[in-house]
Amino acid sequence: MALPKVYVTRRIQETGLGLLPGRVEFRVWEKDYPIERERLLEEAAHVDGLITMLSDRVDEELLDRCPRLKVVSNYAVGFDNIDVPAATRRGILVTNTPDVLTEATADLAFTLMLAAARRVVESSAFLRSGEWTTWKPDLLLGADVFGATLGVAGMGKIGQAVARRAKGFSMNILYYNGTPRPDMELQLGARKVPFDELLRESDFITIHLPLTEGTRGLFDERALRAMKRTAILVNTARGPIVDQDALYTACSEHWIGGAGLDVFEKEPVPLDEPLLTLPNVTTLPHIGSATVRSREGMARKAAENLLAGLEGKRPPDLVNPEVLTQ
Ligand code: DGY
Repeated sequence: MALPKVYVTRRIQETGLGLLPGRVEFRVWEKDYPIERERLLEEAAHVDGLITMLSDRVDEELLDRCPRLKVVSNYAVGFDNIDVPAATRRGILVTNTPDVLTEATADLAFTLMLAAARRVVESSAFLRSGEWTTWKPDLLLGADVFGATLGVAGMGKIGQAVARRAKGFSMNILYYNGTPRPDMELQLGARKVPFDELLRESDFITIHLPLTEGTRGLFDERALRAMKRTAILVNTARGPIVDQDALYTACSEHWIGGAGLDVFEKEPVPLDEPLLTLPNVTTLPHIGSATVRSREGMARKAAENLLAGLEGKRPPDLVNPEVLTQ
């Protein structure tokens, strides 16, 4: 019997690719840049399964051209690059890679919080530029993280992992979330608050929400103006949750203390993005899950989800279970 055909839009770790031989016939986009749209449309048209990256748009146009497609396995926990309702209408399974990147992403959110608070990148540049001529009492003063109030926007797995770290820094934890998290309240003393209270009371806000029509632009001018003048906003979730132009004004005019960003409205962020000129904004190139262990786990999950779907089993990380009952 012919093996199912699969296209993988980037070379992922062997922990995943190594599971494919003998079970599917597969090809990989080998270039060091994302597959061009037209090429993706051509490749996808002939396959039963896709392993996609967050930089690949899987929309109606693509799905319409893929009569054989059964599974789209996204190599990411976020799946805002996929039109899930459109896939569901066509009976196509969509999967993601949760859990394996939770701790790495929480580590990076905490790193950004500390780096922004203690002006780490700015201080390093200061030293290397030769400006460090003396020790002095007011040199590069930052904000205290220990004992401060942390606002967690989105208390899912990653938000909870950040909150656990914050407990070790004796932080007072507030959270904004659709549903209460009694375990976090019990274990960490976290307190669920309305969005505006989170904005008003937090010294640091860390975003761990999915990008949806409800969260797009959630941190807009109004929200940023409501934050403390010293507060630091950290985003390791998705760029469009924050209005980037408003954030530039907020940081340059000191409505807030600064920001730590791993994600942007457009990625890679254009080098003429005004935020990149601000010393109180720490920026990283979307590396939240970029550890060896996390990426190996993501590759393994992406392959396991794909194979399960193609072999008629329920994929472990199915995003649209309705497909199985419709
Ligand atoms: C995700 O998984 O959604 C991250 O943004 C990349 O790991």
